[in-house]
Amino acid sequence: MTIGIKPLSEALGVEVTGLDTIAVPKVEDLELLKQAFLERHLLCVRSRPLTPKTFSRFASYFGRPQLQLLRDQRDGDVPEVSILDSTYKTADAKPDDLTKVRLSGWHTDDSYFAKPAKVTALQGLAVPSTGGQTRFANTHMAYDELPEDRKTALNDMSAVHAYDTRRATARARTLDRTEQSETSDVIHPLIRTHDESGVKAIYFNPNRTDRVMGMDLEESDVLLDELYGWITQPKYQYHHEWIVGDILLWDNRCLIHSVNVDFPIGEERRHQRILLQGDRPV
Ligand SMILES: [Fe+2]
Repeated sequence: MTIGIKPLSEALGVEVTGLDTIAVPKVEDLELLKQAFLERHLLCVRSRPLTPKTFSRFASYFGRPQLQLLRDQRDGDVPEVSILDSTYKTADAKPDDLTKVRLSGWHTDDSYFAKPAKVTALQGLAVPSTGGQTRFANTHMAYDELPEDRKTALNDMSAVHAYDTRRATARARTLDRTEQSETSDVIHPLIRTHDESGVKAIYFNPNRTDRVMGMDLEESDVLLDELYGWITQPKYQYHHEWIVGDILLWDNRCLIHSVNVDFPIGEERRHQRILLQGDRPV
């Protein structure tokens, strides 16, 4: 069987069909997928739900899985797989103001680490009947379309990323002592160059980027607000409607994502996630 690859949107992403996620992929298919991934930043592989072990083996064709920060989400048998349950189990769990749900905030995974995960693999295990889409925005395209003088001004800037920032509308989860000791603030370039494709992207995590180095807070907030408006423009976005079993692999080096957290109370929404090791952003 030959695999099919077709675009999911103007902005980013391809859908992959004909790939058997249980079997070992053919070398030539894997090459095609890696090429499409670098060009389009997100792969959607239609599959059936996989066991954590099979999911981990599949993800490892694209990089090396790493342990994730929050201990209580790790799978008991395959610790590099985290189970993310975003179900509203009670009416109280869903606030009237949905910006208070952390997942609704735009972010790139793991940027509070010195070496953030390069890729996230996420598989839908249970999805609600409405809402719950994961939204993506292409920060490489957003960088490319900046006026030249803005590119020049931003090129040498760097920013502080923290486990949480006053700028985010919802608070991050409380950490235990060990987790706290692993999350000191880090500084990353505001414009990063992709270590495999060489393209540049705006590396700004609205949930975690606290301030731009060398600016006072007020000046920094003005700049970050401007960038927020720029990178979240609809033309840079793709919204994924989950089908149970879908595997999304996306590039944290040049995409940000957020969740439409408006979905029914009591309807299950659950995913399994793997993060693939990355290098220090440059
Ligand atoms: Fe995320």
